Amino acid sequence: MFVYEDKPQLWLNTMPKAELHLHIDGSLQAGRMLELAEKNKVSLPYQTVEQVEEAYNFADLQSFLDLYYMGASVLKEEEDFYHLMMDYLKKCQEQNIIHTEIMVEPQTYAPNGVSFETMMNGFGKAINEAESDWGQSTLLILSFLRHLSEAECLDMLDQAEPFRDHFVAIGLASAEKGNPPDKFKTLYASALERGYKAVAHAGEEGPPQYVWDSLELLKVDRIDHGVRSSEDPELIKILAEKQMPLTVCPLSNVRLCVFDQMSDHNILQLLNSGLCVTVNSDDPAYFGGFMTENYVALQAHLGMTQQQAIDLSANGFNASFLSEEKKRACLSRLRHFAAA
Ligand code: HPA
Ligand code: ZN
Repeated sequence: MFVYEDKPQLWLNTMPKAELHLHIDGSLQAGRMLELAEKNKVSLPYQTVEQVEEAYNFADLQSFLDLYYMGASVLKEEEDFYHLMMDYLKKCQEQNIIHTEIMVEPQTYAPNGVSFETMMNGFGKAINEAESDWGQSTLLILSFLRHLSEAECLDMLDQAEPFRDHFVAIGLASAEKGNPPDKFKTLYASALERGYKAVAHAGEEGPPQYVWDSLELLKVDRIDHGVRSSEDPELIKILAEKQMPLTVCPLSNVRLCVFDQMSDHNILQLLNSGLCVTVNSDDPAYFGGFMTENYVALQAHLGMTQQQAIDLSANGFNASFLSEEKKRACLSRLRHFAAA
């Protein structure tokens, strides 16, 4: 049996994991982007995989979002959404991500004339196949774009109503600065009434106050990113007391210059402060790695121990929206792996 110290990459890849912060458009790999652009006659300023990948050079969140929305514009037909989802779910199988909660953002496709139904048919087919072929566990989060108005988001919430059963939660993504949580109080209250759970990006580029407001005004069940919470000791105390999960994305944070380098990342400090922090990939095609690569980076640059890796992975299952029974089953698989 390989051991962590000898072959950390293999060990971390085989460790059962949950992913809770993944934008499906962020898993669109360069080759697939170019193939779909050609098929759907969408013109991109790139002709080769190398040219696309050279553009993965971001100064901040907005410079990434510009490329991310351009990339997503190649998705038009049901089969495109099927392939996008299936490519990612096969990665889950490869990296033993036994449970995943995926953000889908219909407002990204609507301006290109793609209906909710087209998107959901493609995604649904891939999710059902992966479940029956290898038992992949998947939940979906209906994620809103915060650079749009709250009225547009409320309209999308209504459009999602026929697909209500497909989503466990709502989320909030896109440009954080200038689009504070209080802009979306009515949206979150309405979603809560309809029985959705809630997550929101906060404290990635935005200040700790956005984390406070996501907790108090939006009543979220998890914070996406939240790494800037460490600037506010009182907030850290509350996050630890509440065991409020933070879905941290280490490679993303370095690529988007939230931290200068991986060795500066605060994820293990947050873990050691008693917070429920988890490891996730955010937009793996753009940020240089899926789940395993994120864990490997923590081992290589922060000296993450085997026990810390297991604790981070256990937090992922505990912070998921699975039933208590399914959480126990996943945690038992993790325990068996750790004991082997
Ligand atoms: N932050 C905000 N919005 C996003 C991100 C992110 O890291 N990735 C995709 N949409
Ligand atoms: Zn994100």
